[in-house]
Amino acid sequence: MIVKGDRVDAVGRRREIEPLITDDCKIIDAGRRVVMPGFVDAHTHPVFAGIRANEFEQRASGATYREIAARGGGIRSTVRATRNASLSDLVKAGKRYAEWFLRNGTTTVEAKSGYGLTIEDELKILRAIKQLNEETPLKYVPTFLGAHDIPSEYKSRRQTYVSLVINEMLPRVAEEKLAEYCDVFCEEGVFTTDESWQILSAARCQGLGLRVHADQLSLSGGAKLAAELNAATADHLEHTDAAGIAALKAAQVQPVLLPGSVYALDSSNYPAARAMIDAGLAVVLATDFNPGSSPTPSMPMVLSLACTQMKMMPAEAITAVTINAAYSLGRGDEIGSLEKGKRADFVVHDASDYRELAYFFGVEHPHSVYAGGRIAFSRSAPGR
Ligand code: NIG
Ligand code: FE
Repeated sequence: MIVKGDRVDAVGRRREIEPLITDDCKIIDAGRRVVMPGFVDAHTHPVFAGIRANEFEQRASGATYREIAARGGGIRSTVRATRNASLSDLVKAGKRYAEWFLRNGTTTVEAKSGYGLTIEDELKILRAIKQLNEETPLKYVPTFLGAHDIPSEYKSRRQTYVSLVINEMLPRVAEEKLAEYCDVFCEEGVFTTDESWQILSAARCQGLGLRVHADQLSLSGGAKLAAELNAATADHLEHTDAAGIAALKAAQVQPVLLPGSVYALDSSNYPAARAMIDAGLAVVLATDFNPGSSPTPSMPMVLSLACTQMKMMPAEAITAVTINAAYSLGRGDEIGSLEKGKRADFVVHDASDYRELAYFFGVEHPHSVYAGGRIAFSRSAPGR
């Protein structure tokens, strides 16, 4: 492969590439290792304050995610911490997580707001995402998730909060160009399909693309709603039935599957990846990195779960975290594969067979990571 500036200039066999090498080329010898496009993580919540190790411990002693949320923990506890944090606190925490993504081979993340739930706090998170995009080698695609939960102060005035999202938050986010997509947590006890429809329709009018947290904890109709609205993606889908899968296919909505959250919540309801692939859907896999249901930035972990728990082939799983994910973010021509003209986001993995990425789990595979043609992470241990 030849890289010029931040772009791939040529890809081919040694005999095709060697004649193109000029004196000013710097040669990177991958040493017979696997070279692959940087992972594109199309569903993350990477900007928040505080952690929830206490809830993790409560779940280890039998409490469920929903019980913890019902007593004011869960998303609401991260909202309290995030409201109390400054923009620079959030950027500082975000940089730590950006490093984790990069060292695991991820070069682009979709990044949701959603732990502010007031206009100023949602804007603060989106501004932190913008700053992280500028100040780290990781690329961020911002998504507004003001409808991540009903904040406790609006518990008895749900419609007032929905109106606030539609009439105040969305226009500000669009005006300041702080997001490309809008997402809603459509779920029993969170936002109903009707409320989700109102918010997502308004977002579309503001020029935003649509993504939906759908059918995660119950079959709440999120997949069908995503299809009705021709959303870019329907995410989670642990409880989606055959009718939901057919609706996604008919509307060309891409499923984004998040096995890390199924694993971390100790559920056995992995989404029906095989049925979705058989239906002809371009399945995406992502980490869902967040402090509650999926505290992992590791795509290799997701690849392992996809193959062991969802019976995806390693090649299907790798496709789902590269080119399919890129298309789901409207960047199919820019990232997700190593082709002439695309951004030179690539990873040299310390592996000799691509299947090792899913097979050896709990391992950080990258030997070196390049973002836009520049080194973004390298293992410096001697002998590597
Ligand atoms: O995708 N489902 C809603 N949102 C996140 C969880 C966020 C949290 O627990 O903080 C998810 O799983
Ligand atoms: Fe999520």
